[in-house]
Amino acid sequence: MGTKIGCREGDCGACTVLVGEILAGKLIYHSVTSCLMPLGNAAGKHIVTIEGINGTNLTPVQQAFANEGATQCGFCTPGFIVSLTGLCVSENEPSYDAAINAMNGNICRCTGYKSIERAAKTVANNLQQRKQPALEYAISQNMVPEYFSEIPARLKQLDGITRSKNAEAKKMGGGTDLYVQQHEQLHHEELNFLLQDDELKRINYLNDECYIGAGVTVSQLAGSAVLKNAFPGWDHYIKLVSSTQIRNMATLAGNFINASPIGDFTIFFLALNAQIKFNNGEKNRILPLQELYAGYKKIKKEPEEIITEIIFKLPGQNDLFNFEKVSKRTNLDIASVNSAMHIKMKDGKIIYAALSAGGVGPVPAYLAKSSAYLQDREGSVETLHELLKMVQQEISPISDARGKADYKRLLLAQLIKAHFIKFFPGLPIDKILALSA
Ligand SMILES: Cc1cc2nc3c(=O)[nH]c(=O)nc-3n(C[C@H](O)[C@H](O)[C@H](O)COP(=O)(O)OP(=O)(O)OC[C@H]3O[C@@H](n4cnc5c(N)ncnc54)[C@H](O)[C@@H]3O)c2cc1C
Ligand code: FES
Ligand code: FES
Repeated sequence: MGTKIGCREGDCGACTVLVGEILAGKLIYHSVTSCLMPLGNAAGKHIVTIEGINGTNLTPVQQAFANEGATQCGFCTPGFIVSLTGLCVSENEPSYDAAINAMNGNICRCTGYKSIERAAKTVANNLQQRKQPALEYAISQNMVPEYFSEIPARLKQLDGITRSKNAEAKKMGGGTDLYVQQHEQLHHEELNFLLQDDELKRINYLNDECYIGAGVTVSQLAGSAVLKNAFPGWDHYIKLVSSTQIRNMATLAGNFINASPIGDFTIFFLALNAQIKFNNGEKNRILPLQELYAGYKKIKKEPEEIITEIIFKLPGQNDLFNFEKVSKRTNLDIASVNSAMHIKMKDGKIIYAALSAGGVGPVPAYLAKSSAYLQDREGSVETLHELLKMVQQEISPISDARGKADYKRLLLAQLIKAHFIKFFPGLPIDKILALSA
């Protein structure tokens, strides 16, 4: 009863619960917004509501909130407490920043965040004393009840859920797009739960190629040491996308198939020339992501096909990659315009370039002409000037809730300047900023 429904769109965090599952032989907990979570994605897992962490006394997280006056009407409080308890049972570095990030998908409309931040500091200080595995420590401190120690054995007795054999069944990844768009309708549909399929949950690396299973969540990708090494801005890029709870559910495949013109990972992987592996139950086919989109929300995919894997080459030593996003709020907001750029350099020249942009046309755009223009050019202010003019001819933004068409044209020009400023730090910034398209 303590788990609240506020927005039912994944935006407020009032409905946050923890999900415990055995991954690679270890019990792992992560927070999710239960309003977007189908029961099929809960099968075989330990679901922890606010009641599930209660003991006889307040837990240290609850006590810190009470001491700091971090709750008034209390509507948001169960969500905040569960999110912060999620940090207590995770092996993540328990810094103050981590405590704040654990709650980045929770919104409070009355208390003011300073008291919540103080409560987070108290909890982080406590966690920094821990010298034993996170779950053991959390139990010893009454952050979660004793029964959590029995969960691995209990989970082994539960069955998960297998993939539907019905080719017509709707493909369900994390549900973070589907449940926002079709909440009622989904109650009556047969669903194919892909997030539960072990075969789709792997990330493999072979030489410089990366293979991401369609059931891998964004949070799993966020923790990949290989991806952090390949993309120096990885942690920053991840923080630009949704919230901790949504990243714990969302998949790349869902982002691609949803076909939103501003899908962040779609734009990111368009510039990496990612390939998508489809399977129709009988055979596989591979399609470049750059060829997937045929028009607004129209994709070149047969209804029975599922994405099984996303394949791309990791950037090499002479490669430069950057992703930029502008949104109305810094956190937990979709992009007004976003862009990614990947270039390879040799002897001071650009020998390969791939530029993508979202929010400037009916589909997530790979800017083929502009990318080709950069071939064999120097990274100079003159090159950038020509590129900006070319990009303007290749895009077709419309005016909508996220801004007028002219504003989006301006935003994309600014993002491309940002790519150049990051790639070529020696260029005069004043001249770059003065450029008009
Ligand atoms: C609060 C909130 C904030 C968000 N913020 C962002 C943001 O900042 N940036 C951003 O880009 N997006 C954002 N999103 C959108 C969403 O989280 C992403 O698009 C996510 O990647 C979708 O993945 P999913 O697994 O949840 O997809 P689902 O909702 O499960 O599915 C989406 C579509 O993909 C299909 N599908 C899923 N998996 C497969 C598969 N393997 N094969 C074939 N079809 C498949 C489904 O049938 C459906 O049509 C946000 C959503 C919410 C609710
Ligand atoms: S009710 Fe708002 S995130 Fe679920
Ligand atoms: S205490 Fe009222 S919404 Fe947070």
